[in-house]
Formats: sequence, structure tokens, C-alpha cells
Amino acid sequence: MKELRFPQGFIWGTSTAGHQIEGNNIHSDWWEFEEKGKIYDGTKSAKAVDYWNRFEEDHRLMKELSYPAFRLGIEWAKLEPEKGRYDLSALNHYRKIFDSLRDKGIKICLTMYHWVLPLWVAKAGGWENPEAVNWWTNYCEKAVKEFAQYPDIWVTLNEPLVPAAAGYLGGEFPPEKKSFKSFIGVVAALLRAHLNCYEVIHANTSSAPDGTAVKAGVAQAYQWIEPWGSKGLKGLYERFMTNLFRLGSFEAWDKAICSGRLKFPLRRSVEIPRLKGSYDYSGINYYFRFSLRFDAGKRGEGLIDRDSIPEGIEKTQMGWQIYPKGFYLVIKDNWERFKKPIYILENGIADDKDLQRPKYLLEHLAQVHRAIKDGCDLRGYFQWAFTDNFEWREGFAKKFGLIECDYKDPNLTRKPRKSAYMYSEIIRENGITEEIVKKYSPEAEEGVFGKSPALFQRL
Ligand code: GCO
Repeated sequence: MKELRFPQGFIWGTSTAGHQIEGNNIHSDWWEFEEKGKIYDGTKSAKAVDYWNRFEEDHRLMKELSYPAFRLGIEWAKLEPEKGRYDLSALNHYRKIFDSLRDKGIKICLTMYHWVLPLWVAKAGGWENPEAVNWWTNYCEKAVKEFAQYPDIWVTLNEPLVPAAAGYLGGEFPPEKKSFKSFIGVVAALLRAHLNCYEVIHANTSSAPDGTAVKAGVAQAYQWIEPWGSKGLKGLYERFMTNLFRLGSFEAWDKAICSGRLKFPLRRSVEIPRLKGSYDYSGINYYFRFSLRFDAGKRGEGLIDRDSIPEGIEKTQMGWQIYPKGFYLVIKDNWERFKKPIYILENGIADDKDLQRPKYLLEHLAQVHRAIKDGCDLRGYFQWAFTDNFEWREGFAKKFGLIECDYKDPNLTRKPRKSAYMYSEIIRENGITEEIVKKYSPEAEEGVFGKSPALFQRL
């Protein structure tokens, strides 16, 4: 019988973030940004999927589906809505949320920062204010002490290079800046923010709730980035830009964690004392591949078109390439880089009708399995997302949930999609069986049980 079994003790979960599901994050920079009408589909996070009030119902559903772990976030803007003033009711509310998960035996993976700042921090210059890291560290001291007993896995920062690049270089996220100097300064600030949070976690916890070692790290966005493969000079340029993109998307950060120094080309390097090795694990968020293609018309974007899709490759409702092999390559690359335990903290697809998701999920899990078989110390997988949610500038239009939320229904009724049941069966089996593939996505057979993709080649 064909099957892919995962190691015993492998952690299965779903993933999400505070601002995207809770609702009413009114003292935050994103709230203000949404009020200014910046969201493409005209929506605002508003009450989101009202997780703040419906968490009990969601956790019950999670238990029914036998999802053993949940990655969620806390919002700095809710906990410290004004400088130095902590909101006790918000603190207590988060405690209730954690207790509800713990009572159901659901493991907690907690994200401390997922892109959203309190408005008072943003108004003072956000991560560019030299004091911001100190404010953040004070906040971490408070929040970590309050919640120390709950998380099995701590995520200090989610995809730090995304708010740095989108907020300070590309201008798509608040504070909508377009400055390379600001970008580099913010990356350095976020490295310090990570380090301080990491140290606060270790100073206040001696083990995880199940008695194992404390696990703190970052959830990093790793797209698989490749050159398009044009001929001649164009091809050379694509390769050069691929290296640059990789550097700005994750490599500069990863190298800083490995060496203690942040270095960008043509810039003086910055040493950050104690940064080196400040990961207990490496957290991977993987969704898609970029194929970078020379385009003389894209002046503002470095003469590179990132959105072209090679022939024969399917895309998602986000316009992203579906490329499971890239997942394997990212994991392998990561393992070689860090040699630390790996958790997949996000992987998923926007698919309102759940037509592509079963195959996407099966084929991506097959690549995770392959990486484990090849010796990567991979400990867990979190599927993004548990429910539909607020997808940043894309608003509510993009639907990543295993569970559908009907936004037109005032009760925001939760309705598991087919994939939710499939995931549940995979978890119960601790693997993918032939039966599961046949039942949910026979067209994934080759991608799951077929030959392994070609070997990893460095550029
Ligand atoms: C991410 C973001 C999520 C997105 C998800 C889908 O970490 O990339 O954290 O908030 O919603 O990635 O685009």
C-alpha cells in the first residue's frame, strides 16, 4: 500500500494572526490605514471573524476536527493601547483564550508580533524611532511574564522582512515609505527586537508546558526565488537580481542570525552583540515560487517582472505559482543554513471554493515528508489558515481558511471546507494514505507518490 507516514510526535496545527481574525484592533496603525480606505477591495478589518468573541466555538471545532495545535498571535495595540498603560481586560481576555485551548489539550504556538503596531508607536515613527525597540522590549517583558506558562512554541516576529520591505521600501503597507535607507534601518531594529524578545522569553521560562526545552524563533517568509531563464545578457541580469531578491527577502536576515552581523552590499556591516545563534528552531512560511523575468518596461521595479507564470504552472487566487517542489528546496536550503529543528509555521492557499486546496495541501505535505526522509529535522507543520480572515491589503476577498466564514451572515457561521476534513484524516493517520488521496484528490496521486523532483541546484 502506498503511504507517507510522518515521524511520531510530529506536531500538526493550523495558523493565524490576531489582527486578521480578532476584530476591533482599534488602537493600531493598520486600523488607521484601513480607515483611510487603503484596502483594495474597500473592506476594513472591523470585527474580522470575531474570534475575540467566538474563540470558544472555534476551539471546539478545532477539537472536533482533531487539530492538535494552534498558532495565534497577541496584539501589542490591544495590550498597550497607550504608552506604558496596559489594558487589564485585554490581558485577562487573552488568558481566557489560552485557557480554553489548554483545557482542550490544544498546543499553543504564540506569535508576539505579526506586522501591526500600536498607533502611538507608529505616530512616533514606528520602527525608525530609536526608542521603538526599547518600548517593544518593555512590552515583551510584560506580555511574556503574563503568558509564560502557555506556549509550546514562541514566535518572536512573523516575517519581519515583509513589514520592513512593504512598509519602508515598497510603500504598500503602513507607513508607506519608499526608502532603502529606512528599510535597512528597520531590518536592524527588527533584528534587535527579535533578540530582545528571545532573551526575555528565555529569562522568564525554563521549559515548555510539556516539559521539553523552550522553543523560540522567527517565522520567516521563504518564497522559492528563481531566474526566469532568459538567454544572454537578460539571463545574466535575472540571475543577478535573483541573488539580490533572495538577500532582501531572507538571506541578509538569516546570515545575521548565523554571524551576528547584518550586511547589505555597499553598506557598512552592523554588528549586533549576542544575536548570533538566537534561534532555538527555524520557522518557515512557504507559499509559492517567484520566477524573475527581465522586463525593460518595469523601471520602478528594477526592470524585473515578478508576476509572470511559466507555462504549465497553475496559479492561485492570489496570482501565486503553485510549486510544491520549491517547498522541498526551501526546507533543504534552510536545514543546510541553520542545522536547527524546523517548524513549518505557514503554508496554504487562497481558494474560496476549495477546488485547488486538497491537491495543494497533499502535494506540499509530500515535499515536507521528502525533506524529513532526506534528513532534515522537521518537527511540525501548521496550515494557514484555520478560518478565512482579513488578508491585509487584499481585504476579505481572499479566502485562506480550511473553515469558511460566511461574511454576509451576521453570525459569521463557520463551515468546514472539504480540505478541513481531509486535513483531519491526515492528522489522525499521521500521514497520507492512498485512500485519502483517492477520496479527496485523485489527481494528486503523481505529486504525492510519484518520483521525487530533481535535485537541488544552487544558482
Ligand atoms: C504571512 C502572513 C499572513 C498572510 C498569509 C497569506 O505570514 O505571510 O503572515 O498574515 O495572511 O501569508 O498571504
